[in-house]
Parts: sequence; C-alpha cells; structure tokens
Amino acid sequence: MKSFWEKRYAEEDFAYGIHPNAFLVEQVAHLPAGGRVLVAGDGEGRNGVWLARHGFIVTSVDYAQSGLDKARRLAAEQGVVIDTCCADLTAWRGPSAVFDAVVSIFVHFPPAVRREVHRSLFESLRPGGLLLLEAFSPEQLRYSSGGPSSVDLLYTAWQLEEDFTEGEFLLLQETLTELDEGACHQGPAAVTRALIRKP
Ligand SMILES: C[S@@+](CC[C@H](N)C(=O)[O-])C[C@H]1O[C@@H](n2cnc3c(N)ncnc32)[C@H](O)[C@@H]1O
Repeated sequence: MKSFWEKRYAEEDFAYGIHPNAFLVEQVAHLPAGGRVLVAGDGEGRNGVWLARHGFIVTSVDYAQSGLDKARRLAAEQGVVIDTCCADLTAWRGPSAVFDAVVSIFVHFPPAVRREVHRSLFESLRPGGLLLLEAFSPEQLRYSSGGPSSVDLLYTAWQLEEDFTEGEFLLLQETLTELDEGACHQGPAAVTRALIRKP
C-alpha cells in the first residue's frame, strides 16, 4: 500500500487539494489553541499545514515520503513550519501523553491492526487531549467519491467505540456528506466522524 501512496503523491497536483478537510475546519474550535497536534497519515499536508497556519505546533506522520516532501513545500510556501516523520503507523509508537490533539482524516487501517494503532494514537494524547477522526463508512461502497474498495477497511461508529473504550465521545456519527477535496475526493460520501476526549 505504501507504494500506492508514493505513486499517487508523485504527481504534480495535490490529490486531495491544498485546502483543509471540512470536518476539521468545522471542529477546530474544540482543539486547544496553540497546542501540539499529531496529524496521523497527513499525506501531502493540507490538514497539518492549515493547522500550523492557525497557530498549532504540528507533527505530521505518514509512510509516504513523497507526500511529506510536498507537505513541507506547502508549509514553506505558506510561511509555516511543520515537523514531519516518515513512519509506518502500524509500527510507529510515538511519545506517550504529549499531544494536545490527534487528527486522523481518511486514514484506514486493516482490521488486524486498526484497534492497536488507534489505541497507540490515543496513548500519545495528554490527559484531556482530543482525538478527531473522519473516515469512510461501509455505506461509502455505494458512492464513487473515493476511499477503500474493501469493506474491511471502512469504519463504523461501533468499531470506533470499541477502539477507544477509554475515551469520552463528544461526537460520534455515521453521516452523509459532500466532498470537494482535490481530484480524488469529489461528490457525495458516507463517513464516520468522531471527537473523543482522553480522560
Ligand atoms: C486518503 S489519504 C489521506 C491523506 C490526508 N489525511 C488527507 O486527508 O489529505 C491516506 C493517507 O494515510 C497514509 N497511510 C495509510 N496507511 C498508513 C500507515 N500504515 N502508516 C503511515 N501512513 C499511512 C497514506 O500514506 C496516505 O497519505
């Protein structure tokens, strides 16, 4: 899969555009201003760079170096700095209890590792920190606006409840939305969204 993303990001264009994800924009007021944010699977950096522009201290982790290279260029063009880390999140174990927020937008892990990765991301939050996640739900198989083609990689609200059992869910929903994110996410889409606080 890593090679799939490397190839996608080798293109000149930004696959998901350079503007932030709409759910992140909608929810950002909940994140502690100026806090340290881990952006998991940040790809070409549209979300991490936007967070940095809004005063957050950003660490973007992704296993596609070509994406992170574009993310750093985008940050420089926009006059901000982000820290990038090229790593496989299924193996990466970040520092414990240091981030004020974790943001995961359209990052889909296989069932065998999903819960462990989600728990590890949650572990990197300080007490009171927030995890914001948007992913495609199984309903997305009815749409052609992007996302994995295997149901195993799509997330239900119930699965997120199982993954983040220690968390306090401030928001959890499966809903329909309209995506307008570069060439790869366009049109009606079925998503699962969560905002979870670490006690
Ligand atoms: C659909 S893209 C979304 C990119 C970005 N979050 C956005 O919304 O623009 C999924 C991203 O997750 C990354 N990813 C998937 N599995 C990963 C893993 N095991 N470790 C690190 N990154 C991963 C991919 O490289 C890709 O950049």
